[in-house]
Amino acid sequence: EGFLPFEHEPYFNFRDEATVQAQRAAFQQVREQYVGRTFPLIVNGQPAQGSGTFEVRNPADTREVVWQFQNATPEQLQQAVQAAQRAFEDWRFSDPFQRASIFKRAAELLRARRLELNAVMTLENGKNWPEADGEVAESVDHFEVFAREALRWAQGKPVYPMPDEHVTTVYEPLGVVACISPWNFPSAIPLGMALGAIAAGNTVIWKPARETPLSSYLMVELLFEAGLPRGVIQFLTGTDDVLGDPLVDHPGVRMIAFTGSKEIGCRIYERAAKVQPGQRWLKRVMAEMGGKDPTVVCADGDLDAAAQGIVQAAFGYAGQKCSACSRVIVEESVHDALLEKVTALARQLKVGLPEDNADLGPVIHTGSAQRIMGFVERGQQSARLVLGGEVPDMGERQGGYVAPTIFADVPPSDPLFQEEIFGPVLAFTKARDWQHAIELANDSEYGLTAAFYSRDPRKIEEARRRIHVGNLYINRKCTGALSGTHAFGGYGMSGTNAKVGGPDYLFWFLQTKTIAQRY
Ligand code: NAD
Ligand code: ALA
Repeated sequence: EGFLPFEHEPYFNFRDEATVQAQRAAFQQVREQYVGRTFPLIVNGQPAQGSGTFEVRNPADTREVVWQFQNATPEQLQQAVQAAQRAFEDWRFSDPFQRASIFKRAAELLRARRLELNAVMTLENGKNWPEADGEVAESVDHFEVFAREALRWAQGKPVYPMPDEHVTTVYEPLGVVACISPWNFPSAIPLGMALGAIAAGNTVIWKPARETPLSSYLMVELLFEAGLPRGVIQFLTGTDDVLGDPLVDHPGVRMIAFTGSKEIGCRIYERAAKVQPGQRWLKRVMAEMGGKDPTVVCADGDLDAAAQGIVQAAFGYAGQKCSACSRVIVEESVHDALLEKVTALARQLKVGLPEDNADLGPVIHTGSAQRIMGFVERGQQSARLVLGGEVPDMGERQGGYVAPTIFADVPPSDPLFQEEIFGPVLAFTKARDWQHAIELANDSEYGLTAAFYSRDPRKIEEARRRIHVGNLYINRKCTGALSGTHAFGGYGMSGTNAKVGGPDYLFWFLQTKTIAQRY
């Protein structure tokens, strides 16, 4: 379409010694530059203090406070919404080419600081180097993709013509969009939602998760440095009693773009349906939620490739991805062989410090580890524990560490099969045959990602038709969607299927005007 050529941002090679040294130096720089600092809110383009601050702790050792952020007050929420409404009056008419140029500049700025952003993320949410790098690279991709999408959607769409009227269909922005994000992808997820909003001409209340505000804050600063007018994003951190329901209920908010748990997503969906006094629209809600993602392995599939894909997708970032493989559904005849291969690979994974690039770091909170261990303990009554199931000894370190854990013979009715555990716990279930495996894959209220391994075109065709998910991966792992290519979002209780990074994503942030003009 005449746009600039696009390539996904390549990952760093952490087997290269010079890159290893550079990443280590970036940790040192981040510790010198950011650790101990207190960061502001950004309201109406100005840094602001809240009613107090909260500490962000390193999940790898929660004795370490890394930085502090502000608790926004209810008054600051009001100010932020009003400032975003004022900024909308200019930004809605901004030239899409300027929006695209800002995103292109931001991509350049981020490319130069990727190792720094990796280090910040590792210290906030415990991702190891390639996991953090994958996400920061995705953030660069988002800038590049949304630059192109801003231009593409500015073109309008053709309609069937009339002899005596000139008719155009144009897309216009909505207003103030509240972007509410989780801790597990603290840069790419809020960025994807916010860029969707901004590319379309909306203004944003950017509300990151409390666990991971700096990965977000640095993205916002980068956008300002790239030339984004300061009123276009209001950056608010704090407590959910101020920034949860009151933000969602606010009559000045036109749309809520949410990514996070099913519980909060459903709550937002319901609350946003109520028209508040003074509200002049029906709120739009994008709610991208959890997953219970299956990998189906047919008897004819490549078991080695499947085992590798399963281990990466189940235990990468300790299973704390909405896209993580948490169920393996395998044909009976190859069940034992696959289980053995997966277990052998998983056994090699070392639990340790993400800052030292261990295979598995901590889960986000010690409370999360306890919740996960609850699943593991109860699971032993209904299924066979094959690997892990214990809390590794991390010496003096305080953090929620959980060993890679595998269960076999998991009944489909079991919580291990049905509930999102959000930790390094994998459930194996036998299927009678490959059709039964597809049925079991679909036996879930969620429908986010799935992987399917087979070499048989007939089975693949059936899987393509029948597996009920938003992101289906054939003969590859079910994590690692790339912006612009693997539009991301699920079916069922995985949410509204918004498909971030996809060709229709911007439509979520737009309304359509038809203009018919007589000559
Ligand atoms: P969460 O739902 O607890 O929190 C998400 C955000 O919602 C946070 O910013 C939180 O402060 C905010 N929040 C809390 N109460 C609120 C309220 N009443 N109103 C409005 N906002 C409120 O989720 P989490 O623990 O941060 O993230 C993990 C979850 O996110 C998992 O379920 C995971 O599957 C899901 N997730 C989904 C996707 C996807 O694209 N589908 C991607 C990543 C994570
Ligand atoms: N987009 C992330 C993935 O695909 C969640 O793994």
